[in-house]
Amino acid sequence: MMDTLFLSNTEQDIERAAAILRDGGLVAMPTETVYGLAADALNGNAVRGIFEAKGRPMDNPLIVHVADFSDIDRLGLVKEVPDKAKKLAEAFWPGPLTIIMKKGGVIPDEVSAGLDTVAIRIPSHPVAHRLMELSGLALAAPSANTSGKPSPTCARHVRDDMDGRIGAILDGGSCEVGVESTVITLATKTPRILRPGLITREDIEAVIGHIEVDPAVLNQLEKGEKAASPGMKYKHYAPKAKVVLVRGSDEKFIKFINRSYARNKGVAALCYDEDKALINAPCLTLGAENDEEMQAQALFDALRAVDEIDGVKIVYARCPSAQGVGMALYNRMIRAAAFEVIDLPHKQLIGLTGQTGSGKSEVARLLKAHGMYIVSADEAARKAVEDDAVRQALCEAFGNVLLPDGSLDRRKTAQIAFSSPENTAKLNEITHPKIARLMLDEAEAADADTVVFDASQLFESGEDAYCDVIVSVIADRDIRIKRLTQRDGLSEEEIALRMGVQLSEAFFKEFSDDIIDNNGTSEQLAEKVQALYERLVNR
Ligand code: TXA
Ligand code: MG
Repeated sequence: MMDTLFLSNTEQDIERAAAILRDGGLVAMPTETVYGLAADALNGNAVRGIFEAKGRPMDNPLIVHVADFSDIDRLGLVKEVPDKAKKLAEAFWPGPLTIIMKKGGVIPDEVSAGLDTVAIRIPSHPVAHRLMELSGLALAAPSANTSGKPSPTCARHVRDDMDGRIGAILDGGSCEVGVESTVITLATKTPRILRPGLITREDIEAVIGHIEVDPAVLNQLEKGEKAASPGMKYKHYAPKAKVVLVRGSDEKFIKFINRSYARNKGVAALCYDEDKALINAPCLTLGAENDEEMQAQALFDALRAVDEIDGVKIVYARCPSAQGVGMALYNRMIRAAAFEVIDLPHKQLIGLTGQTGSGKSEVARLLKAHGMYIVSADEAARKAVEDDAVRQALCEAFGNVLLPDGSLDRRKTAQIAFSSPENTAKLNEITHPKIARLMLDEAEAADADTVVFDASQLFESGEDAYCDVIVSVIADRDIRIKRLTQRDGLSEEEIALRMGVQLSEAFFKEFSDDIIDNNGTSEQLAEKVQALYERLVNR
């Protein structure tokens, strides 16, 4: 532990920080993008301290910051300055753009992580600028966060991560841009964006013509694939709570969050200002839906604030478009989410569920007779076990449950799966996601705007969260038992077993939008379904 000095942005304090840097120490400095953790770029020992303080892998190179374009040549930082670098510098420096060029001999291996290139940036923040002027140094500076955490956008974030590990923190207020600089390499045949930022692809193309976007900006690297920018291969920006991106309309997102939260109080939302009043879950907003620059500025603070929400386990975040500044947002958020995205359906979904023996299937049949499109969970379940990965997972959980021809031995699987609540939970964990996927795919492909999910396990599978309307069919216990005995020929024992594991009537009532009470005759049911049908189509 060392004593970290907390400094303001006065000339005197910046001079104290400059002295620490000249002595080979570490200083956190504000830049217009995020706070950087700076050291003398030409002092390999000093630079090594940055990796230690951050816990950063040594194979991830650093950006060298300079005060003036002429410093690049004067210090011999690069082999040569390409014409395109001059054009980009003129258009965007000082500012949130980093340019990668062939490195000069003075660059220590610690900075370039053994690559033959170096990343250079001239920041526009006056404090960073003054710090370079007063120290007379080029500054190697990654973002001043602990490796893996969101980059810091204010001095408090830096203190949370770096107190006791570095010489000083210069407080320059909140960062204006909020996401790290756009990184472009000129060391490839065609210039290539390695990390998107406030300066967009379109902005750059207007200055130097056609450029590429590295595939790793938007997509997960395949195992063993080499990252053009080593920083992109690491888990990044992640709060402790799990983050999942959710893509869908305003209306669908709000329904999804509220339904998820109703049943799981560990749910929170990361969304737009406009959503907030309509969301029941704890909710962090990034700004107005159409203001991506504001969202970029707010993003890292919000990702840090996530873990301050009481009891939060999972954060559903609205998925930005990957266009313009949205590309920078998407790039950070998809990493915070470890590439997990939920696509909400475009169709109107009616969830139809209920206790066994309640007559749910009969209601589905009647709705179908009215012309509604029905997606059957039972059919999806049969298809799900044709999937190799699902069968393999079932064998891993329950031993060999395959028939000699490789298909699933359903009876054996059912016997084992329903022998204990733990095994039932395991079965559900393995099959439900696949079943839900198959049903959602069928719904999207259906030639209908509204689709009914006929699913006895609508809630248990989490499919409820996708539904616009949930209808539950209920009936008294003795009536249900009679139906199960007469219709399905089940024994008393089998019936007791099934009823023991299902959700209560109170649960169905609490979490459904519409209830069909099926204690009467089939004529009465037909009338009720007729009325339900009219309610559904007239919504
Ligand atoms: O806005 C910013 O760029 C901030 C402020 C402090 O300037 N800095 C920053 O640094 O974000 P850092 O180290 O967190 O991110 C630098 C990124 C990493 O993904 C790294 O792998 C990449 O740039 N990078 C640096 N040098 C490179 C090189 N020679 N070739 C390829 N990628 C490089
Ligand atoms: Mg970083």
